[in-house]
Amino acid sequence: MMASLHVELAERSYDIAIGEGLLEQAGKLLAPLLRRPRVIIVTDETVATLHLQTVKTALDNCNIAHTEVILPAGEHTKSYEQLQLLLDLLLAGTPDRNTTLIALGGGVIGDITGFAASILLRGIDFVQIPTTLLAQVDSSVGGKTGINTRYGKNLIGTFYQPRMVIADTNTLLTLPKRQLLAGYAEVVKYGTINDYPFFVWLEEHGSRALAGDKEALQYMVEESCKAKAEIVGKDERESGLRALLNFGHTLGHALEAELGYGDTLLHGESVAIGMVLALKLSVRRGLCEQDDYERVERHLKAAGLPVSPLNIRKQWNANQLIQHCYHDKKAMDGGLTFILASKIGKTSIHQDVTKQELEALLAETLQIV
Ligand code: NAD
Ligand code: GLY
Repeated sequence: MMASLHVELAERSYDIAIGEGLLEQAGKLLAPLLRRPRVIIVTDETVATLHLQTVKTALDNCNIAHTEVILPAGEHTKSYEQLQLLLDLLLAGTPDRNTTLIALGGGVIGDITGFAASILLRGIDFVQIPTTLLAQVDSSVGGKTGINTRYGKNLIGTFYQPRMVIADTNTLLTLPKRQLLAGYAEVVKYGTINDYPFFVWLEEHGSRALAGDKEALQYMVEESCKAKAEIVGKDERESGLRALLNFGHTLGHALEAELGYGDTLLHGESVAIGMVLALKLSVRRGLCEQDDYERVERHLKAAGLPVSPLNIRKQWNANQLIQHCYHDKKAMDGGLTFILASKIGKTSIHQDVTKQELEALLAETLQIV
């Protein structure tokens, strides 16, 4: 069972292959795209142990020469230091403009490898082989690359599209449950921003997909990639529509920045909390019914995701969280941009969220009186 989707971006168009056992077919899938049969695989220590050999064997079977660079696992790898190390290691292998990088791993490896590919020798090809649910349904598609800085997430980066995305759903079988759930938050995001029937499907079948039902998992990854491909095809550089994909991210990123990007709160978990807060803000503004807010919150909670900053052991400081929001890439002229919902499946961009509104939202949420 392999689905093939297409991201339509003129000369930067590419396919997304989704199915079981695609790592074994990586050589066959990639061979027609390579400018020359030479690749450098970038992965992390965890994924290297679990899946690197399968990819190497698949490349050997198609006579594609390969070397690899293995980075530490985790969000801290998206740093200046690791980027420099990666670029040096890549250059030590004397790549040329016809060499292709393969990003084998989660969103961290995809983001830093894509960024490296976009600046190495002024840009070489790269391919995404995402191995987390989050990367399969979101980060591997759409060409956002980058690293984090002390000022916030992904503040240094490029738009640089991969030549192909190969999502092998079997890789999700080795993924820890907590990581699977973090990816599920981004899946729920698609339903909530503009696809009510998908949200209803998730209410009915999401738990089956999370339990490893292959058909449900395949459908869930496909629908998510379809949604992302459609949005990216219409607005690659986020001048409008694509901003909807940042639903839950303004405050989500602030929570992550405040915690210093460790394991306390995974990116997808912060998005789950951020979506609930964005819905709460929508209700406070009179845009959205309380029932819709509660329904999304209930679904995320039932799946096992955190839905409030209070689910995380930390003394939160509302002012610091608001400061982090001002470093968000979407902050315009000192105002704060939020994606807000009028109902499940209908969201829009609001650029007039005031500091006072956020203070009130956080005071209520953090139960500060
Ligand atoms: P991650 O890459 O850190 O992966 C999570 C953990 O799972 C890591 O420890 C990794 O080693 C491990 N892992 C990966 N695949 C595995 C497998 N198959 N089996 C067992 N373990 C495995 O995190 P992530 O959640 O995939 O990605 C998060 C990052 O993605 C964040 O930095 C976020 O900013 C970024 N992101 C980018 C975009 C984009 O459009 N570029 C979109 C969403 C998120
Ligand atoms: N994950 C947000 C985007 O790709 O635009």
